[in-house]
Amino acid sequence: MNHVLVTGGAGFIGANFIHYLLQAEPDAHVINLDALTYAGSLENLKDVADNPRYTFVQGDICDTEFAGELLKKYQVDTIVHFAAESHVDRSILGPRQFIETNIIGTFSLLEAARKFWLQEKSLSLENLRFHHVSTDEVFGSLAPGEPAWTEETSYAPNSPYAASKASSDHLVRSYGHTYGLPFTITNCSNNYGPYQFPEKLIPLIILNALDGKPLPVYGDGQQIRDWLHVEDHCEAIHLVLKKGSTGSTYNIGGENQPANLTIVETICEILDEISADPSYKPHKNLIEFVKDRPGHDRRYDMDTHKISSELGWRPHHTLTEGLLATVNWYLSHPEWVTAIRQKQEYKGWLDANYKSR
Ligand code: NAD
Ligand code: TYD
Repeated sequence: MNHVLVTGGAGFIGANFIHYLLQAEPDAHVINLDALTYAGSLENLKDVADNPRYTFVQGDICDTEFAGELLKKYQVDTIVHFAAESHVDRSILGPRQFIETNIIGTFSLLEAARKFWLQEKSLSLENLRFHHVSTDEVFGSLAPGEPAWTEETSYAPNSPYAASKASSDHLVRSYGHTYGLPFTITNCSNNYGPYQFPEKLIPLIILNALDGKPLPVYGDGQQIRDWLHVEDHCEAIHLVLKKGSTGSTYNIGGENQPANLTIVETICEILDEISADPSYKPHKNLIEFVKDRPGHDRRYDMDTHKISSELGWRPHHTLTEGLLATVNWYLSHPEWVTAIRQKQEYKGWLDANYKSR
């Protein structure tokens, strides 16, 4: 792991991963390829911008030639592929970009790796790795009492986002099977933590609550997600890169499945305790049940025995402590929050998704 190309490193998990990797791998050079869409920001990497072991390149993963030039120029031996359109609600209102980025983008990157790694053969195969970061949403939705998903569970994606990620997983696997591309895939549950764009549930609720705005809960709020702190996810990916077996997939999850309403109420309780502003207490009075998401998955649950028994991974953050730390992070980064809130794109998204709900 000498020269690591991280795609989508200016987004939520990618930025956390770059911070993590620069510390965990003191000799590695990290090249961040990111298109800086609405979800990416160099603010997320401000503190590593001058690190001589970090290079930012603005570009699109759909451009195979450009990606190939980067692989060559930096003699990249490891690709960690995060870049994606990642928000289910956006995929419902506008699926095309998800097909472009998640499917064509992954295909384009695989082509670049195939040409540079497998055809030019300028690096030795056993030191190479294409790691694809995916989601538990490829498995669909669980009914009450159904067992958690394992790595053997058949894919049954329900949203355009999940279908585009499932498709990209299949492409990665096929490049391993057909061309011998050394790959690994991780399917992870819902992440939360620093730098998460406030369109996703947890940061949206924190910021709305601080402003005294309604806290939108879709449907009856009894949908269940498995929540994992982003640092635990980064640690798991790093472990898979170091010790995971090539050609394998690993499930990653937080071993906790509260209902969405419980998550929202917990954030309200945390803010009741720590917010200096008494105007909106109790914050739970701001909760508003709104029209459900079309095709809303009911329940997710990941069986993580494989990664724990093979690689010894387990999450370190509890949800209680992780949520408190996350609320504190948003409270202590007002400039980061203001910069996003001022963007027209963000205001436009809130109007599009919530105004007529
Ligand atoms: P994000 O939306 O916060 O960030 C995505 C990043 O990709 C942004 O920086 C964006 O600029 C970049 N990007 C988008 N299109 C690009 C393109 N064509 N070329 C180059 N860069 C591009 O996403 P995230 O939440 O950090 O998720 C990262 C990855 O992890 C995704 O693949 C997602 O499917 C997966 N994942 C996310 C979660 C979660 O809870 N957020 C859970 C499991 C898996
Ligand atoms: P989200 O953070 O968008 O992640 P995902 O859809 O990938 O799981 O949503 C998490 C859960 O919260 C999901 O069941 C939808 C729900 N949700 C709301 O109830 N209200 C909201 O405003 C948002 C954004 C999500």
